[in-house]
Amino acid sequence: MHPLIKEVILSKEKIDERTKIVAKQVTEHYRSQKIGDEPIVLVGFLKGCVPFMGNFLENFELNCQTEYMLISSYGSNIKSSGKPEILLDLRIPIENRHILIVEDIIDTGITLDFMVNYFRMQNPKSVKIITMLDKVTAHKVDIKADWKCFDVEDQFLVGMGLDVNERFRNLPYVAVVDVEKLATWKW
Ligand code: PRP
Repeated sequence: MHPLIKEVILSKEKIDERTKIVAKQVTEHYRSQKIGDEPIVLVGFLKGCVPFMGNFLENFELNCQTEYMLISSYGSNIKSSGKPEILLDLRIPIENRHILIVEDIIDTGITLDFMVNYFRMQNPKSVKIITMLDKVTAHKVDIKADWKCFDVEDQFLVGMGLDVNERFRNLPYVAVVDVEKLATWKW
């Protein structure tokens, strides 16, 4: 294991197992809405969403299309700048569509709060949120995921899409970074 990794908190098995369960709940929700064959628009925010989006898609049984946006709130910093920026927008109209945001993590919640408002202004039929991880105690705005896989503590996490300095996104588990070592780490 890389020396900057202090502790694995969620194994691949645990993430896969839980994603399966939550994806089923999401599937059942939309089935109960009787939306027929209408494809749900899954929206992922690059880059962190990629592994979880893949996991979720494998387990989501309904008609859907996948779209991606590039939003940046962190830049290369550890802490959120608090100012999300849309670097790449959707290329489809979302009026009258069901939107499901597929996130890797809610930290301060600022990105999602901003994005949900942005989508709502475009008159979609619905906007829902599923997140793999939720740092509930770190929220700075009033935002709630409709579905989540895990609550996590307010620690610096990597893996399954989460990065430090663009590294570790490919780890198939979620781990805590050793912030003491990171402070003097030479990349
Ligand atoms: C991360 C993460 C979420 C957001 C959560 O993205 O993927 O989208 O931050 O933070 P918040 O709740 O405090 O707004 P980031 O901007 O780091 O970009 P990335 O997906 O490329 O890592």
